Amino acid sequence: MPQLFPRRADTILRAAVALAVLALVLAGLVARGVIDPARLTGAATGAQAAVPQPSDFSHRLHAGEIGIGCRMCHTSVAKGPEAGYPQQWTCASCHLALDPKPELDWRVAWNRVRPLQEGVYFHHGIHVARGIGCATCHGPVETMIRVFPVREFTMQWCLDCHRDPAPALGPPGAQFRTAAAPPPPAHEGGALLALYGIEPSRLDHCYVCHR
Ligand code: HEC
Ligand code: HEC
Ligand code: HEC
Ligand code: HEC
Ligand code: HEC
Repeated sequence: MPQLFPRRADTILRAAVALAVLALVLAGLVARGVIDPARLTGAATGAQAAVPQPSDFSHRLHAGEIGIGCRMCHTSVAKGPEAGYPQQWTCASCHLALDPKPELDWRVAWNRVRPLQEGVYFHHGIHVARGIGCATCHGPVETMIRVFPVREFTMQWCLDCHRDPAPALGPPGAQFRTAAAPPPPAHEGGALLALYGIEPSRLDHCYVCHR
């Protein structure tokens, strides 16, 4: 019997099947959160793997889709040096009323994604009070299933902003406005420097961050 298809058709068919299987496996991994596509965009900029956590928790679901404000769980971020992690009762305040309840141990101790090394002092409140958004330093957390670091917290990175902070500043409270509120008035970085009384010339002194 004469050959209906060229010999090469067999190879092409096999390759197509293999590709289809690969695509299905990848789609499955993305759907289950094993692979987070948002992470691929950060991979080129020093992003690293998310740290393992004692319990399932998705920022994309809670902060993104449900729209819970960052401060409900990171309660000291606007005032204290540390942002803080949610306590068991913060999760329970919603989840005791939800059905079905997710199967998890609420007495969790969360692992830090990206700690600073010993001897470096950082203070969340002072940055947040100057209108610097969480995303400026942490990336688009509300799109992440598992939080992963979008950058290294290097000394050079801190210094770059401390020497020229104007572009990163925002009007007071801007980052916590709700979607329904009118957008804050357009601002000019220089005007905010003056409003907040920031003096970049003293912000790169060693004792600011090493005390
Ligand atoms: C403001 C309310 C609220 C708070 C606070 C909250 N959640 Fe949720 N959570 C929800 C809602 C709503 C869902 C979606 C429920 C659903 O789809 O069945 C959800 C879903 C989940 C799921 C997925 C459930 C599943 O079966 O797939 C997990 C896990 C979870 N939350 C863990 C937590 C943890 C851990 C905390 C505390 C750090 C927390 N949640 C705090 C409202 C909340
Ligand atoms: C419902 C509670 C909840 C809300 C709302 C929430 N978070 Fe979180 N956040 C957590 C929990 C739990 C962890 C620890 C587990 C993890 O890393 O996923 C965490 C960890 C983080 C981390 C990693 C910190 C580190 O280095 O260990 C960052 C950054 C973060 N959150 C930023 C945000 C931002 C920005 C928002 C608002 C857009 C937000 N979170 C909203 C519960 C919450
Ligand atoms: C100017 C940069 C900057 C901004 C703005 C910022 N963070 Fe952070 N964040 C950091 C650094 C640096 C660390 C690591 C601190 C350490 O290890 O001492 C950190 C750590 C954290 C942690 C884990 C450890 C802790 O402090 O409890 C959480 C959670 C967090 N940030 C949430 C937020 C949220 C939510 C916002 C916005 C409201 C925010 N951050 C704004 C730089 C920033
Ligand atoms: C995106 C800009 C930006 C980044 C990034 C940034 N900072 Fe700042 N930082 C500021 C601004 C603005 C102030 C407020 C200065 C003021 O109000 O006088 C500040 C203030 C501070 C202060 C308090 C200074 C004082 O004594 O008044 C400390 C400490 C500090 N930053 C540490 C750090 C460290 C450590 C890092 C890196 C891990 C860092 N900052 C990254 C913008 C930034
Ligand atoms: C705006 C904040 C900031 C200022 C100002 C600053 N540093 Fe740092 N410094 C850091 C951070 C953040 C690290 C940790 C970097 C890392 O882990 O990659 C660091 C790390 C260091 C280290 C350890 C380096 C290493 O590789 O372990 C030395 C030494 C140091 N700084 C000296 C200085 C000196 C000297 C000055 C003044 C000229 C200064 N720093 C000013 C933020 C700052």
